[in-house]
Parts: sequence; C-alpha cells; structure tokens
Amino acid sequence: MQHKRSRAPGDSKEMVAARHAFLSSGLYAPVAGFVTQALTPVSHPQAVLLDAGCGEGYYLDQLLGALPLAPEHCYGLDISKWAIQRAARRRCDVNWLVSTNRQPPLAPGSADILLCMFGFQSYPGFSDVLGPGGHLVLVEAGPDHLRELREIIYPQVKEKSLPRSDAAQAAGLRLVSSERKQYHIALNTKHLAQLLVMTPHLYRATAEGKAAAAALDHLDVTLDICIQILEKPTGQAGSSFC
Ligand SMILES: C[S@@+](CC[C@H](N)C(=O)[O-])C[C@H]1O[C@@H](n2cnc3c(N)ncnc32)[C@H](O)[C@@H]1O
Repeated sequence: MQHKRSRAPGDSKEMVAARHAFLSSGLYAPVAGFVTQALTPVSHPQAVLLDAGCGEGYYLDQLLGALPLAPEHCYGLDISKWAIQRAARRRCDVNWLVSTNRQPPLAPGSADILLCMFGFQSYPGFSDVLGPGGHLVLVEAGPDHLRELREIIYPQVKEKSLPRSDAAQAAGLRLVSSERKQYHIALNTKHLAQLLVMTPHLYRATAEGKAAAAALDHLDVTLDICIQILEKPTGQAGSSFC
C-alpha cells in the first residue's frame, strides 16, 4: 500500500469488466494456447508460479486447466484491486495479491516461473523474486498486433519494433528462447467496443477513429504475439527484501 502512486492504480473497474467479458468469449484462446506451450517444459506440480500483472485471471485459469501446476503454488498479482476482485471470483484456490510488479511481495528467490503478459515489466523486482534456474516468461504484442484496428482508430499507424530483452538481460537474466506467432480472429461490434475499453487505445484514439470503429459490424484482426523466455542463472540467489 505504501508504494501506491495514486488512489486507484492500474486498470479501472470498467476496463477490468471489459477485459473479463472479452477474454471470456474465448477469442484469445490461441494466445493462451501459445503461452501454455511455452510453459510446458518448465511446469510441474511443485513449481511456484507468479503471474505479475495478472489482470482478471483469465490466463492463470487457462494455464491451471492445461498444465501440471498446483493452484496453491500459484500467485496472481495486480496493482488494480478491481482486477484482483474479478480474479478471485474466477477461482478461489489461487493466491491473489493486490501489489506492484516493482516489488512483488514474495520472498527473494522463491518463484520458479514468473509470467508477465502484456504487463508492466520491472526487472530488478522480477529477478529478485526468481530462484536460481527460474524462468521469466515475457508475453508481448508484436509489431502487427491489432494492426487492422489501429489503422481505423489512428490517422497514422505508429510502426513498432519487435520486443527486446536487453533490460532483462541487464538485470542478470539469460535469454533462452524467443518465439513469435500470428493468429487471425473476427471481432463483432461488441468485441470491438470491449477491446477499446480494456486497452489504452480508448484514450489514445481520435474521436473520429473511435466513431469509425463503433460503426463497424465486424473486423478481422491480426494477433501478433511474442514470447521470450529468460533464465536466472544458477548460483545467483535473490537479494534484498521480502
Ligand atoms: C494490459 S493488462 C494485462 C492483464 C493480463 N496479464 C492479461 O493479459 O489479461 C495490464 C495489467 O497490469 C496491471 N498493472 C499496471 N501497472 C502495474 C504494476 N505496476 N504492478 C502490477 N500490475 C500493474 C493493470 O492493472 C492491468 O491489469
């Protein structure tokens, strides 16, 4: 609580409700499948997993349904109390925490897997909480993610580059693998509205762009997902706080 920088940090109640409705439609199931595949080699019933910036808990729920992970060893952390309230309603057997990725409140060196999906990345904190040989799994949007929607809501689409891992490597983590996959999904008017509310696009898009998106009855969009896996070298313990 003492590290909060605003009264209601993170996603608002409305953003969380939109994300919950959107993800529950199953449209991002291929993304969950891609993350499941990435986590398969490192998952086992004793593994301690922290989903840092877990949102309303969709992905942790999907992972628990598909991998040999034990819910009592899984932690979902988000700075938004609304997100954690929703996540706790999704399932009550996981450890849900309202906290910040800057200083995850787990003992140093206690996590085997740290997942950060489309979330705020804070490497000193992540590296500290991972045990030696532990894995950081970064899931990020690639350059073509939602390109078709961005072409409608912005006068000019800002070209993005592929996610990099320099900062994570500077924090002492070793890049193990990097993979990118693209999927194509069809969105209807309701999905488009939910997607806009649950992302920063709602604030960044022009009024004309939002009106153009609202007038669509469907849009085919690309999902461009990049997963990087980094390892904390053995012989490097957690350090400073608990
Ligand atoms: C784009 S959403 C992704 C949520 C979830 N990982 C998913 O993919 O559905 C980013 C999440 O990070 C949370 N967040 C933002 N800043 C944070 C911080 N400093 N520490 C922890 N969570 C944070 C937001 O509240 C939001 O739920």
